[in-house]
Amino acid sequence: MDLGLEGKVAAITGGGSGIGRATALMFAAEGSYVAVADLFADRAAAVASEIGAAGGRALPVQVDVAQASSVMAAVQAIVAAWGRIDVLVNCAGIYQRGTIEDIGERDWDHVLDVNLKGTFLFCKFVVPVMARNGGGAIVNVSSISGRTKSDLAAVNYVASKAGVIGLTMCLASQLAPKGIRVNCVAPGTIDTPMNVDIPPEGREVLLRRCPMGRFGRPEEVAAAILFLASPLASYITGETLNVNGGVFMV
Ligand SMILES: NC(=O)c1ccc[n+]([C@@H]2O[C@H](COP(=O)([O-])OP(=O)(O)OC[C@H]3O[C@@H](n4cnc5c(N)ncnc54)[C@H](O)[C@@H]3O)[C@@H](O)[C@H]2O)c1
Repeated sequence: MDLGLEGKVAAITGGGSGIGRATALMFAAEGSYVAVADLFADRAAAVASEIGAAGGRALPVQVDVAQASSVMAAVQAIVAAWGRIDVLVNCAGIYQRGTIEDIGERDWDHVLDVNLKGTFLFCKFVVPVMARNGGGAIVNVSSISGRTKSDLAAVNYVASKAGVIGLTMCLASQLAPKGIRVNCVAPGTIDTPMNVDIPPEGREVLLRRCPMGRFGRPEEVAAAILFLASPLASYITGETLNVNGGVFMV
């Protein structure tokens, strides 16, 4: 099926690993120009090379999403290369487990800065570029932890991911007149480097809760992101789509 993403310019934050990497590869396979933006230049470069080797078009971009000046420079670099940004996927994120006793002020600030402020900053600097070109689509990455109670994730992670859902709804209503749709995905537990250190007891608890009895693959989240970014979702905005094997249903 043609998703209508051929020739579109897609910027993927956190594109160097896990869900972001799978999303970058999938956009490239659809014929999009893909900016692979990550804190780690080597990760961004590796994914961009992978795309190039498969005949796709990719630009590695080093960025710290938590720093306004860095995000501004990244957006300028993408526009300098390709002149526009049609799709933004805010996938960069960091995770923390623990109880409130474990979380200090610096932990709080760090996780909120990357997961929530980073999403805000990228939207802020990309929106004028999209608006100039008549519109676009933004897909944010929240989490099941931002929608329902979480036994493993810490308060800072949960608050950041709940915040991403609020930010999505607010921007969706503000930006609809500019032709920009803003949606969100809320993954359950996905097999990525973020989860390699979940202890075996924790994995068992999580698996028992999942009607499908398995963790998700990064490609399964990427597919939902591509759908929301594509013209197939042309009347969907402000929505948060669960991609969680049935663990949490609304
Ligand atoms: N894996 C899961 O089970 C799961 C579940 C729900 C939500 N999520 C969310 O999905 C997103 C991707 O997670 P993942 O599992 O692919 O993790 P991952 O660790 O594999 O990838 C995250 C990427 O974000 C990058 N990053 C971190 N801080 C950054 C910063 N300041 N600036 C730019 N890039 C930065 C990392 O370098 C890494 O490449 C995250 O937002 C995460 O919270 C993941």
